[in-house]
Amino acid sequence: MNDQKPIIEFKQVSKSYGDVPVLSDVSLSVERGEFITLIGRSGCGKTTFLKLVNALLMPDCGTVRVFGEDVAEADLIGLRRRIGYVIQSVGLFPHMSVRKNVTYIPGLLKRGRRPETAVEPERLLEMVSLERSFLDRYPSELSGGQKQRVGIARALAILPSVLLMDEPFGAVDEITRKQLQDSIRDIHKKLGLTILFITHSIEEALMLGTRVGVFEDHRIVQCDRPEVLLEAPADEFVAELVKGIDRLGMSEQRGRREQIL
Ligand SMILES: Nc1ncnc2c1ncn2[C@@H]1O[C@H](COP(=O)(O)OP(=O)(O)OP(=O)(O)O)[C@@H](O)[C@H]1O
Ligand SMILES: [Mg+2]
Repeated sequence: MNDQKPIIEFKQVSKSYGDVPVLSDVSLSVERGEFITLIGRSGCGKTTFLKLVNALLMPDCGTVRVFGEDVAEADLIGLRRRIGYVIQSVGLFPHMSVRKNVTYIPGLLKRGRRPETAVEPERLLEMVSLERSFLDRYPSELSGGQKQRVGIARALAILPSVLLMDEPFGAVDEITRKQLQDSIRDIHKKLGLTILFITHSIEEALMLGTRVGVFEDHRIVQCDRPEVLLEAPADEFVAELVKGIDRLGMSEQRGRREQIL
């Protein structure tokens, strides 16, 4: 594989459900190690976009290339072994302990090849700043924020190169959300992952993303560094989205939290 190539590349991709178009002529290149945050109205196609990356959906037109390979021709099991996925509703298996939750998918994969991809459950919890005593708990015995952390640990269990995160910090209080944000920035930095992260919070998008992608009218209307989004919004919609954001405060906060990590 050529490392110079984008790790993810959408070329003129369209996707409809029946007659209803969701994505239309979407192009985007993501380089290895980027942290792309994605934002847009509810129902605009963000989840659909992520599912095109791990080939849970196939494009109607255009091409999606991941790890340099067209997903239409890729070995899907091999592809998904390298992509972690944190779904919109966390989706922990309720009847399994935390230990089982985080080892279940690598366990499945182990029956195939590459057992070396499995990470010790203790190490996984450490990555998401949870004590190992949580391993024997069940999801119903966890707070919302702890569930989110276990969901992330589960996605990291295969040591993915790409991590897809669909509104992972949706249903938690502000303090927990900030802690989770710090954790994911730390994980991104330490593991050198490429992350696609959907959020409904523009502050979160600007805070975490190396680039922020904005969906509108079935397209990504802008995907730029946070400063560019603030200084040169591509259209009215983006301008409205970033209106009222304290630019200086935002970059100071980014810097301060980067120093802490
Ligand atoms: N399997 C499906 N069959 C038919 N329509 C679907 C299907 N999945 C999604 N849709 C529709 O496609 C559109 C885009 O859905 P998608 O889940 O990608 O939106 P989203 O941007 O993730 O929204 P949200 O922010 O609410 O999660 C929505 O109008 C949705 O109702
Ligand atoms: Mg969604």
